[in-house]
Amino acid sequence: MTTEQTLDLAGIGVGPFNLSLAAHLDSIPELDVRFFEQRDRLDWHPGLMLPNADLQTSFLKDLVTATHPTSPWSFLAYLVAQKRFLKFLNAEFEATPRREFANYLEWAANGLPNLQFNTRVREISFDRSAFKVRFDEDSCSAQHIALGIGLSPFLPAWADEQIGDDCFHSSTTTRRLDGMTGERIVVVGGGQSGAEIMLHLLSEGRHTPAEIRWVSRRPNFEPLDATPFTNELFTPEYVDSFRRLGEDRRHALVASQKLAADGASASTLRALYRRIYAMKYLEDNDVDIGLLPHRDVIEVDRQGKEFKLVMRNGFDGGIEVITARTIILATGYTFKFPEFLAPLKDRISIDRHGNFILGDDFSVKWDGPRRHHIFALNAGRSSYGVAEPQLSLTAWRSAVIVNALLRKPHFDLSLPPSLMRWSTGDDVYVKSAGGAVSIAG
Ligand SMILES: Cc1cc2nc3c(=O)[nH]c(=O)nc-3n(C[C@H](O)[C@H](O)[C@H](O)COP(=O)(O)OP(=O)(O)OC[C@H]3O[C@@H](n4cnc5c(N)ncnc54)[C@H](O)[C@@H]3O)c2cc1C
Ligand SMILES: NC(=O)c1ccc[n+]([C@@H]2O[C@H](COP(=O)([O-])OP(=O)(O)OC[C@H]3O[C@@H](n4cnc5c(N)ncnc54)[C@H](OP(=O)(O)O)[C@@H]3O)[C@@H](O)[C@H]2O)c1
Repeated sequence: MTTEQTLDLAGIGVGPFNLSLAAHLDSIPELDVRFFEQRDRLDWHPGLMLPNADLQTSFLKDLVTATHPTSPWSFLAYLVAQKRFLKFLNAEFEATPRREFANYLEWAANGLPNLQFNTRVREISFDRSAFKVRFDEDSCSAQHIALGIGLSPFLPAWADEQIGDDCFHSSTTTRRLDGMTGERIVVVGGGQSGAEIMLHLLSEGRHTPAEIRWVSRRPNFEPLDATPFTNELFTPEYVDSFRRLGEDRRHALVASQKLAADGASASTLRALYRRIYAMKYLEDNDVDIGLLPHRDVIEVDRQGKEFKLVMRNGFDGGIEVITARTIILATGYTFKFPEFLAPLKDRISIDRHGNFILGDDFSVKWDGPRRHHIFALNAGRSSYGVAEPQLSLTAWRSAVIVNALLRKPHFDLSLPPSLMRWSTGDDVYVKSAGGAVSIAG
């Protein structure tokens, strides 16, 4: 797509986050926007689309409902269009099947105009009046950019040399399953991906491995905290308070709030425990299962077909060695500076931890003209808090970006009084050192 005309916004990547932005922009025809995706369709984390996986958030945290509930691109509109609204209610799902939510995303992607698939962005540069976006064969220009390319698989340093058919990241699990004949498997990582893979490998009717080990660096196989006060971290009011903190304090808070976002669902842990119980005590199944919490895998060597994993045990400080034929790295995801931004690398500000420095409107700090924005979605966990990589604030972030593009409050995002008083100040009464009550300013 080479065009003379300059787009108002070019979106890079069509995952749920940029799709939500596209859905919001669909209601604003005066803006000329286009989103480019390298895949041939929206396919939501296909490498971990295991049977029976559920959404970890409410379906109401969809592309639009929180900020634009009358949009035609809501999950409820999808159910109605599929003619299964009442069936969905009758099914009384405790959590929405991830497959169903993925189907919803694909339905929205098929219906929204201005999405272009099979188009990989290779390079973004800037000349004096616009960004230039280069694809494999052609290019376009745009006033603004919205980066929605997701996170990259995180691989521990020792994995670099081992990665291959027998040692792979969880994001490629589904296409490896057929080739996994069993034998001895180690799953490294105690988050939701690790838990789902364990549950799947041990599932009924599947040829189970002879030996399986589950390693978690966390002190135990720890659950996602989805209780109400913790869920307050996933509100615009919290983000507003969090944004005002200094960099070090924000980093420390994000580290301390890991289980608010990255724990394993209690239902998955329960299902896994029950499955292990059944295999061990009710069935004649002699699979050798080892549950290894509080272990940090610090080194891996390969001798022939056999991996040797060296682990530090955080419980008692010991060093242990286990062996395996297959290692599945359920070790999470991380931010990487996009290669296609290389021409702008020296112009973009980065914090001490290698992350973008982001403004209130999700725009990257750079030294270009202030009227041209690079919005970054899912690149600001340390700027906005643990909600940023999750679905919870997807619609709100899209509405913030639309308001910034239009330079007016098109969507009403004024904040209600916060239930939780996070910051010192406002109308919180504090006791001064001398015992007198004063109002902190
Ligand atoms: C298995 C899994 C399940 C999850 N489930 C939940 C959940 O239930 N609840 C929740 O709140 N959060 C969940 N999350 C977290 C989060 O909601 C998802 O990771 C979400 O997909 C993030 O959306 P995204 O649009 O930022 O990135 P992605 O979904 O990763 O999409 C990015 C897109 O950009 C494309 N792209 C990348 N580079 C280029 C390029 N150069 N040119 C063109 N296109 C490009 C990619 O092909 C991809 O389609 C889950 C995460 C995982 C890994
Ligand atoms: N169905 C779903 O909805 C679904 C499915 C999958 C994922 N998700 C979501 O996607 C996000 C990512 O989940 P994830 O499970 O892929 O990643 P994650 O939550 O970041 O978990 C990664 C795990 O790997 C561990 N780890 C990293 N290096 C290690 C090492 N060298 N030795 C031992 N352990 C090591 C981490 O330990 P530390 O914690 O100590 O760093 C952590 O336990 C989460 O928000 C999750 O909720 C959702």
